[in-house]
Amino acid sequence: MRLIFYFSFVFLLQNISFAQNNAKIEALLAKMTLDEKIGQLNQVPGDISTGTDVKVDNILVQIREGKIGSLLSHTNFDNKIIMQQVAVKETRLGIPLIFGFDVIHGYKTIFPIPLAQAASWNLKLIENIEQVSAMEAAADGQNWTFSPMVDVTRDPRWGRAMEGAGEDPYLGSLIAAARVRGTQGRSLSDPTTLAACVKHYAGYGFIEAGRDYNTVDMSEQRLREIVLPPFKAAAKADAATFMNAFNTLNGTPASMNKHLITDILRGEWNWKGMIVSDWNSFGETIVHGAAADDEDASAKCLNAGSDMDMAGGTFQRGLKKALENGKVTQAQIDEAVRRVLRLKFELGLFDDPYKYLNKERHKTNIEKKEYRTLARTAVAESMVLLKNNNDVLPIKPTTTKKKILIVGPYADSRGNKDYMSFWTLGLGMRDYDSTKVVTPAQGLKPALEAMGYEVKVAQLGKNGTYDVFAQKDAYEASAGVDLIIACVGEQGMNCGESRSVADIHLPGNQEEMLKTLKTRNVPVVMVLFNSRPLVFNWASENIDAIVVAWQPGFETGNGLADLLTGKTNFTGRLPITFPRNLGQVPLYYNHLSTGRPQTKFGTLWTSGYLDSETTPAYPFGFGLSYSPVDYSEIRAERSTIGNDETFVANITVTNNGKMAVDEIVQCYIRDLSADIARPVKELKSFLRVHLEPGDSKPLQFNISPEDRSYWNQDLKFKCDPGQMTLFIGSSSEKVKKMEFNVVK
Ligand code: GLC
Repeated sequence: MRLIFYFSFVFLLQNISFAQNNAKIEALLAKMTLDEKIGQLNQVPGDISTGTDVKVDNILVQIREGKIGSLLSHTNFDNKIIMQQVAVKETRLGIPLIFGFDVIHGYKTIFPIPLAQAASWNLKLIENIEQVSAMEAAADGQNWTFSPMVDVTRDPRWGRAMEGAGEDPYLGSLIAAARVRGTQGRSLSDPTTLAACVKHYAGYGFIEAGRDYNTVDMSEQRLREIVLPPFKAAAKADAATFMNAFNTLNGTPASMNKHLITDILRGEWNWKGMIVSDWNSFGETIVHGAAADDEDASAKCLNAGSDMDMAGGTFQRGLKKALENGKVTQAQIDEAVRRVLRLKFELGLFDDPYKYLNKERHKTNIEKKEYRTLARTAVAESMVLLKNNNDVLPIKPTTTKKKILIVGPYADSRGNKDYMSFWTLGLGMRDYDSTKVVTPAQGLKPALEAMGYEVKVAQLGKNGTYDVFAQKDAYEASAGVDLIIACVGEQGMNCGESRSVADIHLPGNQEEMLKTLKTRNVPVVMVLFNSRPLVFNWASENIDAIVVAWQPGFETGNGLADLLTGKTNFTGRLPITFPRNLGQVPLYYNHLSTGRPQTKFGTLWTSGYLDSETTPAYPFGFGLSYSPVDYSEIRAERSTIGNDETFVANITVTNNGKMAVDEIVQCYIRDLSADIARPVKELKSFLRVHLEPGDSKPLQFNISPEDRSYWNQDLKFKCDPGQMTLFIGSSSEKVKKMEFNVVK
């Protein structure tokens, strides 16, 4: 009863403050000139450029003239105080600035990349990471983060796959909402939280050829089923802002796409927040050829429902003319300004413009020790064990002084942003202290020496490339050792925006290094530092153990040591498919059957290749651990349900290993009789279950009518009677299955 009272009281308070803010917004709006209004819609970059060079003359002059409402990518705390003072004390109406920043996988404490975090399938962990990252960024004067990136993608060529949650809309939706919750907390006015910004709306992950900023074209059905669910989940989680995507969607640039913004986001979903462009994406509608000039671009973007112009100055140059020429109305401009002002009110910036510029929190809330503890946990939960022949791992203690070699370009690298990504702007672009990263060697060496090993480290080559001498070094370094840990992968600065690749093989000639090491005929463990699925078929065939480490951030070496020594068990599962070769791409688990599915390589007249399997190297949801877990057959009390009923299935999982494990039990369905073709599998639920050695636990999965619903031929979201299959297992391929029937 008390809880109901509490929440109703909070709801009442929120409504009162919403009404009070509205009154203040209207009063302020009534005083503003047209220039001041257009100034509020203008966001200007700071000391870091994350896009095409857009020159900005003296920022303080423009703030004083009321031409700037927001700044982004400012890393200097004291400068932000000065800029806020100018805005508040030296402009006619004293409207405070809002500071935006890309807090993608940490701010000053760097966590694993978002794609790695998705591999943990741990929503609470992800929420906690966002909460800590927001706390650090808010302590440094930021109010607003351009996160979460929720773009579903199936394309490993795309450098930005690392920023999202992989290929599945269901997992992506849960993670999107968790990120918004962690970032915004209970109230935007809490100075230890940030306003979230859901991006990139929409379809960016489906760029043709995996090439950044490229064209996107897809059916409305695929848009609704695959692309939009994470955006909708974030909107329902009350994300304060959205960001336009760079790409065209079915011919119309996203920034001026009325269907996306007005029809769906603001119409169907009734989302009331503020939309910021991506970097100069308003201006780029001209380059797309969909707008004639700044005036036309301004009109089309504002008419579509976009509000703020990031880094482009398009509104500054063209919006007033668009109004004068009747292409937009004053009411439309006022509505966009209202959304900006409401965000600033909700952040509390009008009550106290310096609340996020607090010197005490700036001292105490950045790089706290407990943040690293969380980062170390995140590293261990995100890495994925792909192969472990003859139980090479975990490494057991030795009493005979055996030798271990840690070798490769990422054994002990200090390369720029190695073990991280381009999206660590809170550290600056280059001048950060790379010693803050615990490298694999720094984490593994002491841990293995404590287990009785003699450990050698050979940091070979640079940035994943070798000359012939490095191969010689690899051979010499590996003489007389009993186990080799080869650290390979991608440079940190090759991960992120504008980092698409046309070849997803392990870069440089790292595979040659692995072959050289393998000639030593001792077990080799490959640790892969990657931001996307890569191809490494020779290693899959010949290397004894393979760990996908992703780009793990500051606690790389410690989290890796915890896993390789067995202090922690693997739980990670792939959130994105790893193909055998690029020719298979796009390759994803929730594909349609086709009328001629290939079940055996080489079968003619089926959907396959002459020169490649159609199956992936490693499927969505895949990951091993040190504990073999047995799955019973699925049980169900009823195998027939009504169309408005929930199907209930049970299964028992048993840990037959010697180590405790957190098993991620996945539940998929297939609709065999819809009115359109449906995917061969769709993830609809998963449970994380802790199993001590010998534990057996019964689990229940419920498939509701909502779970069974899909966008049908008439683009209605509905479920219908027919034959269904339920799958429960440890990956999208290793499953138990059961048929069930749905009747009218
Ligand atoms: C970049 C990115 C976007 C980012 C913005 C500000 O171009 O596309 O994700 O938030 O500009 O850095």
